[in-house]
Order: sequence, then C-alpha cells, then structure tokens
Amino acid sequence: MKRGTITLRDPASGELAIQVSHGLSQKEQARGRYRIGEGITGKVFETGKPIVVPDLRADRRFLNRTGARTALVGPQLSFLAVPIKVHGETLGVLGVDRLFSGDPGSFDEDLSVLSIVALLIGQAVKLHHLTAQERRELLVSDQEPQNELREKHRSVGGIVGQSSAIQEVFGAIARVAQSQVTVMLRGESGTGKELVAKAIHHSSARAERPFIRLHCAAVPEMLFESELFGHERGAFTGATEMRKGRFELAHQGTLFLDEIGDIPLATQVKLLRVLQEQRFERVGGNQTHVVDVRLISATHQDLEAMVKSGAFREDLYYRLNVVPITLPPLLERAGDIPLLIGHFLQKYNKQNRRAVRLSTELRALMAGYHWPGNVRELENCIERLVVMADADLVTLRTIPTTLRGYFSDMRHVSRTGLDYGAHTLTGGLESIERDRLKKALERAGWVQAKAARALGISPRQIAYKIRKYRLVPDTTSLS
Ligand SMILES: Nc1ncnc2c1ncn2[C@@H]1O[C@H](COP(=O)(O)OP(=O)(O)OP(=O)(O)O)[C@@H](O)[C@H]1O
Ligand SMILES: [Mg+2]
Repeated sequence: MKRGTITLRDPASGELAIQVSHGLSQKEQARGRYRIGEGITGKVFETGKPIVVPDLRADRRFLNRTGARTALVGPQLSFLAVPIKVHGETLGVLGVDRLFSGDPGSFDEDLSVLSIVALLIGQAVKLHHLTAQERRELLVSDQEPQNELREKHRSVGGIVGQSSAIQEVFGAIARVAQSQVTVMLRGESGTGKELVAKAIHHSSARAERPFIRLHCAAVPEMLFESELFGHERGAFTGATEMRKGRFELAHQGTLFLDEIGDIPLATQVKLLRVLQEQRFERVGGNQTHVVDVRLISATHQDLEAMVKSGAFREDLYYRLNVVPITLPPLLERAGDIPLLIGHFLQKYNKQNRRAVRLSTELRALMAGYHWPGNVRELENCIERLVVMADADLVTLRTIPTTLRGYFSDMRHVSRTGLDYGAHTLTGGLESIERDRLKKALERAGWVQAKAARALGISPRQIAYKIRKYRLVPDTTSLS
C-alpha cells in the first residue's frame, strides 16, 4: 500500500482526526480532520460500513483534505476504508491507498485483511480509552485534601462530574461567584446542593470570611427568629446568655439557608424585611445591626406550588430566586456514575485504610441503577461496601451479606421495564440500557435529540437504540 491512515474520533471536538499515518508528512497528517459524514472517511464512520473507491481520480466524494494526493499522475490509485469498531460502536476509520492491481475482485480480499487489522486496532484503542479513564479517576481522587488549605480547595474542586449537565453547573458557579447575587439552589435530595453552596462561597471574594449554614427544617418554629437574628440575654425563658444569630455570624461572608421551604410563614415576613433593609434587631433587643451578607438558599420542594397554595410568600420567593441553579438528578447524568464511584472508592479506601475494588459487572449494575437518593445514596453505598467488604475485590457473588438485599433490590429495579433476557450478563446490561433510555426519553418528552444530549450519545445512536429496543411512549403518559 502507498499510504495508510488511522483516523479516530476526538471526544472533545467530536471531529475525526488522523492519529497515525504511513506515507504522509506531518503537515499532511495535521490537515486530516473531517466532520462525521464528510468525505469518504466521514461516510465510513457515519455508516459503519467499508467503502472502496477503485479510482481516486474519478470519485467526487474524495476530498484530498490532506493534500497528499494532489499530483495524481501515473498508475491508478484505489482507496479502501473500513470502520474501526468495538462492540458495535464505531471509534474511527482505517484507510489505505493501494495501487490498482487491475483485478476488481482483489478488493474483497483486501477488505477482509483490513477488517481484521481494524478489529485489533479497535481493541487497542478501547483499552487505551479505559486506562485514560482510570487515570482521570485517579487524578480526581489525588486531589484529596491533605490539610486545611487543601480542604477549602476541595470544596471548589470536590464536585465530581464530566457530564454536560454538571459542566453547566460548574459554569454557573464560576459566574455567580464573581458577584454578590442571591442564588437559589434547586434539586432533588442528595444532588449536591450544599456542596455547590460551599463551592460558590469558596470561589467568591468572601472565601476568607465565614460560611454559615442554617438547616431550616431542623429549627423548631419558635426558635427561628432567634436562630436567624440572635437574642439578648433574658429575651425569653431560657435565654440566659446573649446569642448572635446566623446573620451576624455570617457578616461579610455567606449565609446558606438550607431547606428554605421549611421556614414558617411568620418568619418569612421577618426574613423579607431583613433582606430588603439589610438590618435587624436581636430578639428582645432594640439596637439595630447592619450586616453585609451574601445569601444562598436551597430547596428540594416545589416552591412555585407552595407560592400558589399560600405556604410560601411570593415576595420572598422573588427576593430569593434571583439566580436559580438547578442540580440535575443523578439519573440524568448517569455518565458521571463511574467517575463518582472512583471518587468515593478512593475517599473511603483512604479513610478506612483499605484497597477495595469493584468488579466490572458490579460497576455496570451500579451505573445502570436510577439512584433515587442521588449522589448521597451512591456515596453511602460505596462507604458501606468499603467498610464491609471481606476481600479487596468485590464481585456480584461476594457482596457483603448485610448489603445483599440492597443489591438484589437494585438488580430487580434495573430489570423491571424489561421482560426478556435479564439472566445473562449482556441481557442484564441491555435491560439497564433499555430502562435508562426509556426514562431519559420520558423526561425529554420523547424529544430524541434532547434525550440523546442528556445521555451523552449522538442522535444517530439514540435512533438506533430506540429501534433496537422497540421503544414507544406509553399510551397512558401521552394522554
Ligand atoms: N458532584 C459531586 N461530586 C462529589 N460528591 C458529591 C457530588 N454531589 C454530591 N456529592 C456528595 O453527596 C452528598 C450529598 O450532597 P449534598 O449534601 O450537597 O446534597 P443536597 O442536595 O444538599 O441534599 P439534601 O437536599 O438531601 O440536603 C455529600 O456527601 C456530597 O459531598
Ligand atoms: Mg442539603
């Protein structure tokens, strides 16, 4: 063969780029970038099928992007390109230029040799991806805190995730950190609202000042005011000492009002006044205190419905909801699960001086589960696995006895929604995939492109999978 190229999809840009070549100069190789579907290489990638061009000079699809074949004089040159595939997923394209032998029948033989080579390349590429992924997981967990200073840093970098959903959250954190704007964090329980509140504080100009949290759900109604604004000595029975409230403690720093939906209506009025006037009095006192506080609130409740029903004041709602940041449930960023598993394994192994690893099937099972308790549930699950594991490697068969029930429920849930083939490993994985696909589609209102984005796959892949699993909307959900 005259020339040969291995073109792979760059996960960052989504473009195809020549990674290795034979017979091309550095410059020519660098020019070899294609969009999916573009030119012969792009077509082979898109369709997953080989293409043979018997005579390069006569084919309009040939782009000559690299410029390596500008002076095509002399003998007839053919081009053969085969997909590099692993488990049905196309990773790239293997292409070669070959002098035309005069026998069109010889292409079949060439193609079968090239397909075998492409198979070997595919396995090597996959392996390379896996080790790169492991290295990234290690890097993440390497950033564990060693001392106080690092501890602070962790609150910024301690949010693990690579899904586009969490990347958007990172972007929002960086933007709001630069201002004093009031932020409201929304999201189901365990999605990381508190972690994000701390990250905003630690990346803001207030980082050196206190971060004060008030867990509104835990405060008895009659103590609310005193918790927020403090009290003077003798203000009420039991107030034997003067006590500063959270607003005073958070002066020049950040006040995080967690579970804001649990603030009683009477306190809501007072809170609103403080937010409007930036001043307050301690309970039982008449001296006015002026504070400079950045406010972040969080809730998993449907505040809008509470406003409608009168359980939450509308004016306070607008005061607090200046910039909302919504944390997606783990189900919608399932791509982050493997990363989070690695992160928490590292964390709890270190804490418990262990070196527990999870088998591939176990990780796959966990990656396919819907985690109703979100990241917190996943974290608890890993902590328990690390603490209870008998040996360093935990597999489906050696799950610690105390966790058996939990995992068999997980398997059950992952399987429901599927009525076939759940007994073999591939069947199990398929059922997980089908289940997840269906949920993503439901959440996206069956808009395929939206569901594909949430899952981090291409529109083409989702279309294929929908056909494969014969997925259709439930008639009930459409009515
Ligand atoms: N993206 C993430 N990366 C690493 N750890 C995370 C991430 N998200 C959440 N966690 C961890 O999961 C646990 C739950 O997070 P957090 O307490 O912030 O959730 P929450 O949204 O406040 O939940 P709740 O509404 O139940 O209070 C914490 O231990 C947190 O450190
Ligand atoms: Mg919380």
